[in-house]
Amino acid sequence: MRIGVPGSGGMADALGGRWSGAGHEVLIGGRSRERSEALATKVGAVAGTPEDAVAFGDAVLLAVPAAVAAEVLGQAPGRVVVDCTNSVVPGRFVLDEPRVAARLAEASGAHVVKAFNLCHVDVWRRPSLAFEGRPLGVPMCGDSADALEVVGELARSTGCVPVHAGLLERAELLEATTAFAIGLWIGGADVRAVFPTTV
Ligand SMILES: NC(=O)c1ccc[n+]([C@@H]2O[C@H](COP(=O)([O-])OP(=O)(O)OC[C@H]3O[C@@H](n4cnc5c(N)ncnc54)[C@H](OP(=O)(O)O)[C@@H]3O)[C@@H](O)[C@H]2O)c1
Repeated sequence: MRIGVPGSGGMADALGGRWSGAGHEVLIGGRSRERSEALATKVGAVAGTPEDAVAFGDAVLLAVPAAVAAEVLGQAPGRVVVDCTNSVVPGRFVLDEPRVAARLAEASGAHVVKAFNLCHVDVWRRPSLAFEGRPLGVPMCGDSADALEVVGELARSTGCVPVHAGLLERAELLEATTAFAIGLWIGGADVRAVFPTTV
């Protein structure tokens, strides 16, 4: 698969690197040519601009702050776009902007799938994404079955399991859940202990 990644920061590094390592063609499109080229060399990708990344291939991972995601994406009718952004107010752990993924879809015309936003970047950097003998589940919300299939394949190719979590209208719950979990985690709580099994 060909994956364009606007952004050249931590998530572009971690997920772009995983996908490149899994045999996908990745284009790192940061706004700094130097940083994009350095990261592309590191992860075995090619470098370009954010616009190049949006136009490249089968899927786009928006690895930029939520506040600029719509501007970076622009008009992208029919494109498969992975929104991993978290619009969290530091310290208060509430949402700065609600419905980021849904509004992205409305503004761009893209087939937006909210996914890969729940785990910290360092999780995506781990050598293995299996925990306690089970592959990591990646919750994803989207309206297009075809786009969900593409993003599901991106999850599977990193050794994860796609978890279909409903239509894009539910992405705001995934955004809120992430903000809530980050607040618990920063506050020292054991987030994993909050969702026990019933059996
Ligand atoms: N870090 C995490 O643990 C984590 C986990 C899940 C999801 N996320 C989400 O993933 C996204 C990326 O996070 P990150 O950790 O990779 O952040 P990061 O390391 O700060 O990287 C952000 C990237 O966005 C670029 N950028 C910022 N403003 C831009 C603009 N106006 N136009 C084009 N590019 C712009 C930056 O470019 P410059 O290098 O030129 O500044 C940088 O390459 C965020 O939405 C974040 O909420 C993060």
